[in-house]
Amino acid sequence: MDLGLAGRRALVTGAGSGIGRAIALALAAEGVAVAVNDVDAAGVQATVAMAREAGAQACAAVFDISSLEAVQDGVAAAAQKCGGSIDVLVNNAAVLAAHAPFLETDPADWRREIDVILIGTLNCARAVLPGMVAAGGGKIVNVVTDAARVGQEREVTYSAAKGGVISFTRSIAREVGPAGVNVNAVSPAATNSPMRQKALAAIEAKIGAERLAEREVKVRRAYPMRRIGEPEDIAATVVFLCSAPARHITGQILSVNGGYAMVG
Ligand SMILES: NC(=O)c1ccc[n+]([C@@H]2O[C@H](COP(=O)([O-])OP(=O)(O)OC[C@H]3O[C@@H](n4cnc5c(N)ncnc54)[C@H](O)[C@@H]3O)[C@@H](O)[C@H]2O)c1
Repeated sequence: MDLGLAGRRALVTGAGSGIGRAIALALAAEGVAVAVNDVDAAGVQATVAMAREAGAQACAAVFDISSLEAVQDGVAAAAQKCGGSIDVLVNNAAVLAAHAPFLETDPADWRREIDVILIGTLNCARAVLPGMVAAGGGKIVNVVTDAARVGQEREVTYSAAKGGVISFTRSIAREVGPAGVNVNAVSPAATNSPMRQKALAAIEAKIGAERLAEREVKVRRAYPMRRIGEPEDIAATVVFLCSAPARHITGQILSVNGGYAMVG
């Protein structure tokens, strides 16, 4: 199947590690010029180097998505480096500031999660949509989480911020569909990435290695496919949603989760 992606220009946020890096590399492998965003400059350089080693076109886009001014400057610079306006946006960057019961969380952490996850997504959409609408089309994919679809203790405010992104996905898809812009969300459940490794390390510090290993066996039982996702599982779905054959899909929230949650 020809995905029709060659020659496109994408911005992938949070692509200095984990799922975002896998998405950037998967798009690059399809001939997309990728602007690699993250606040972690070393992570960005590593992703750019990997893409270039594979013969793809990639550039660094180091900026903080929670600042609209930084995003507008960063998107303009990325468009210049990529040779034209951004026609694919993947909103992937996120922070899980605390893994704790809500009543034990710090309001400063709620604010940080909402600023990066929800406001960051709005900022990036605001910066790229005028160019997409003017060009008569574009693709936006937001990476959300099954935690927001079915509920998740100890990730209450992170889930709330992602719930906002889910609502934004549906409403903005209605607004910009007539201009030829598709907006969808991909919803992972547990996926092997630095974010998950960090959460597991915090749990291990509390309960010890042996109980963590038992917990991991139980976690896999909740997944009909009996495995935890890999970043490449998420990336493959994002690439499809950015492709020409996916032109009739918009406003959808697609879980890529080994069957963990089956939400209608
Ligand atoms: N790993 C999982 O189990 C899992 C499950 C469900 C959803 N997700 C979602 O997948 C996406 C990717 O997560 P991951 O697991 O690869 O995590 P990760 O922590 O490895 O990657 C997130 C990246 O976002 C970057 N980032 C944070 N704040 C930023 C900011 N203000 N501006 C720009 N970049 C910023 C970080 O530096 C980091 O490189 C996130 O949206 C996350 O919520 C992950």
